[in-house]
Amino acid sequence: MKANICNTLHTPLLKKNKKPSYVIFVTFGFIVFLMSMLAFIITNQTQNPLEKLERQELARGVAQGVSAKSNSYDFHKVSYNWTDAMFSWQRTAFHFQPQNNWMNDPSGPLFHMGWYHLFYQYNPDSAIWGNITWGHAVSKDMIHWFYLPIAMKPDKWFDINGVWTGSATLLPNGEIIMLYTGDTNNYVQVQNLAYPANLSDPLLLDWVKYINNPVIEPPPGIGLKNFRDPTTAWIGPDKKWRVLIGSKKGKISISLVYKTINFTYFELNDNYLHAVPRTGMWECVDFYPISINRSNGLDTSVNGPEVKHVLKASLDDTKVDCYAIGTYFIENDTWVPDNPNEDVGIGLLLDYGRYYASKTFYDQVKKRRILYGWINETDIASDDLKKGWASLQTIPRTVLFDKKTRSNLVLWPIEEIESLRISSDEYEGVVITPGSVVPLNITQASQLDIFAEFEIESFTSEGNISNDNIDCGKGTLERSSFGPFGIIAIADDTLSEQTPIYFTLSNTSLGFSTTFFCVDETRSSKASEVEKPVYGSKVPVFSDEKLSMRVLVDHSIIESFAQGGRRVISSRVYPTEAIYGATRLFIFNNATNINIKVSIKIWHLNSAFIGPFPFDQS
Ligand SMILES: *[C@@H]1O[C@H](CO)[C@@H](O)[C@H](O)[C@H]1NC(C)=O
Ligand SMILES: *[C@@H]1O[C@H](CO)[C@@H](O)[C@H](O)[C@H]1NC(C)=O
Ligand SMILES: *[C@@H]1O[C@H](CO)[C@@H](O)[C@H](O)[C@H]1NC(C)=O
Ligand SMILES: *[C@@H]1O[C@H](CO)[C@@H](O)[C@H](O)[C@H]1NC(C)=O
Ligand SMILES: *[C@@H]1O[C@H](CO)[C@@H](O)[C@H](O)[C@H]1NC(C)=O
Ligand SMILES: *[C@@H]1O[C@H](CO)[C@@H](O)[C@H](O)[C@H]1NC(C)=O
Ligand SMILES: *[C@@H]1O[C@H](CO)[C@@H](O)[C@H](O)[C@H]1NC(C)=O
Ligand SMILES: *[C@@H]1O[C@H](CO)[C@@H](O)[C@H](O)[C@H]1NC(C)=O
Ligand SMILES: *[C@@H]1O[C@H](CO)[C@@H](O)[C@H](O)[C@H]1NC(C)=O
Ligand SMILES: *[C@@H]1O[C@H](CO)[C@@H](O)[C@H](O)[C@H]1NC(C)=O
Ligand SMILES: *[C@@H]1O[C@H](CO)[C@@H](O)[C@H](O)[C@H]1NC(C)=O
Repeated sequence: MKANICNTLHTPLLKKNKKPSYVIFVTFGFIVFLMSMLAFIITNQTQNPLEKLERQELARGVAQGVSAKSNSYDFHKVSYNWTDAMFSWQRTAFHFQPQNNWMNDPSGPLFHMGWYHLFYQYNPDSAIWGNITWGHAVSKDMIHWFYLPIAMKPDKWFDINGVWTGSATLLPNGEIIMLYTGDTNNYVQVQNLAYPANLSDPLLLDWVKYINNPVIEPPPGIGLKNFRDPTTAWIGPDKKWRVLIGSKKGKISISLVYKTINFTYFELNDNYLHAVPRTGMWECVDFYPISINRSNGLDTSVNGPEVKHVLKASLDDTKVDCYAIGTYFIENDTWVPDNPNEDVGIGLLLDYGRYYASKTFYDQVKKRRILYGWINETDIASDDLKKGWASLQTIPRTVLFDKKTRSNLVLWPIEEIESLRISSDEYEGVVITPGSVVPLNITQASQLDIFAEFEIESFTSEGNISNDNIDCGKGTLERSSFGPFGIIAIADDTLSEQTPIYFTLSNTSLGFSTTFFCVDETRSSKASEVEKPVYGSKVPVFSDEKLSMRVLVDHSIIESFAQGGRRVISSRVYPTEAIYGATRLFIFNNATNINIKVSIKIWHLNSAFIGPFPFDQS
């Protein structure tokens, strides 16, 4: 899917080998189109946002050079007749989201004087992208949150069109450095420095923008709109800090390394940290060490023989977060992937569902690396305006090296989420036969933490053994000998709406060599305008392991983790009937040749407190 309108306009023409004059004509036409769009936007300033949106054809954000923040085709779609009750049900109970309006990337997460701080890309004016500020919230446990006043607004020439994504660096002397991208008065992407006005304030309410900003401007040869999202800095033996910024040069995706001693003056390395052909603009790069022999996270500057480094990029073209594990050479600031065939952008994803612009930080209290990620709405933006809010952050996930596969990360919801567990139901060794769906007799199935294990209980002869090379396919309607089987969340009694989360296996002479982990959203809602894909991936399974999944259900979001977090899929679902008291949970087996034994434990989760900071009581 191409969200970038420049690509959709130009690519077909170039492929057809049109004469240069034609290309110039089309380019001219495109400029006229852009100018008329601009004129249109200017003359329509007084309209309400909903009217504007319905007539808008450019995806939001694209003109300013960031990734599309809406689907440009939305305006063709007809909205379901949603009721206020349906919209209210969609709001989550324990995922972080602002009180109202639009949110995107997590920015500058850090821990300071007893509080976890989360900043986030936030539009204070509307539930669609624009006028981006830094929203701010604090938490003691990353589950219950207090909203704080906006930390930074677009009020200087170097960020007047947006205070965009950035990262925090905690210096050994206790100072906090915040580097962020500003969209300037000329729509140039520059990197700016900010720092807390008062380090003794645990809430870090006031931020100072360095007077001589920007501290980094796009270097020669780099597009003025292809240069954003600085990482947390790390320090080398030469006492110089390094910061990474993603970009692209021609068809090559790149990550640029800058060195500094004081965060005001930066020098660009000649070498890129890493480059990969044809994966588009790299946004929100993240770079950090992981221990290959321990079970704790590492601070960003740690290196050594038992350490590997993760490089992550968010791909502007395809809206996925890709990573690879490799080796970092600090002597020349280069990184090489362990497996070049699974390099950044062509290999693993942090999350195989709807997930983007993630960022990690090192939690010095519990010695762990924590991952936040932005999950957008997959309904249409005009409905987000009616709801008055858009987007969530995932439950923070711990990040560890997978010591069994030695080739991927394991991501797992932070343990603090377990404090919301109120009661549980357990089903031990339930055998489900081919083609069956079994209701789990629980009430209140909109806020759950589920852990389920699956074993092949026996083989049946109902159907012919098919050795098809199956994958997630078209969803659970596609039956094969050894799958699909799993759970069905956010369903109504009659399964007229349902979201199966499942495994499906394929047999080869080597046994069950391939396991897929999938989520099928195709029947998640009766509304036709919402996106309802089938998501999934192959997942490694060892012979001494059962198939297992952890699933967090929170109204319109389902986060699913397979095999201890080797693969993760985040889904957004917008049911019309499977809501409130009508929401049910099932287990199912749609394989033709195996009986499945399921053991499942289901915790009901309380809502988290997420509200304004009680300034008057403190
Ligand atoms: C959310 O992201 C998906 C994928 O980029 C996109 O198709 C969809 O339009 C987005 N939704 C909104 C409301 O921006
Ligand atoms: C919404 O409701 C109106 C009036 O009841 C009806 O005419 C229309 O077809 C409905 N639209 C959809 C998408 O269901
Ligand atoms: C941005 O702010 C201006 C001025 O307050 C407002 O008119 C406009 O609607 C806002 N844009 C968005 C997308 O919220
Ligand atoms: C800094 O914050 C601390 C703690 O909130 C407060 O006591 C102190 O007065 C603040 N200093 C200034 C200069 O505002
Ligand atoms: C930062 O360091 C550079 C040299 O590395 C120096 O020229 C500059 O004056 C320093 N800036 C500040 C504000 O100290
Ligand atoms: C991990 O490796 C380092 C360096 O070889 C060693 O010092 C440390 O003891 C090892 N830790 C464990 C838990 O094996
Ligand atoms: C960087 O250093 C490593 C280790 O010394 C070396 O293998 C690699 O070739 C160097 N890379 C570049 C681009 O110089
Ligand atoms: C739930 O109740 C139904 C109807 O009583 C029963 O058929 C089903 O087996 C029960 N589910 C489980 C997992 O016990
Ligand atoms: C099994 O295969 C045979 C021969 O191809 C076919 O006649 C039969 O219908 C198949 N049975 C099932 C259940 O698919
Ligand atoms: C199993 O497959 C059949 C045939 O495609 C389909 O009708 C049924 O809905 C599927 N069951 C589930 C739980 O998806
Ligand atoms: C898997 O396939 C092989 C032949 O490729 C067959 O011998 C074996 O019985 C199959 N295993 C199962 C569990 O069906």
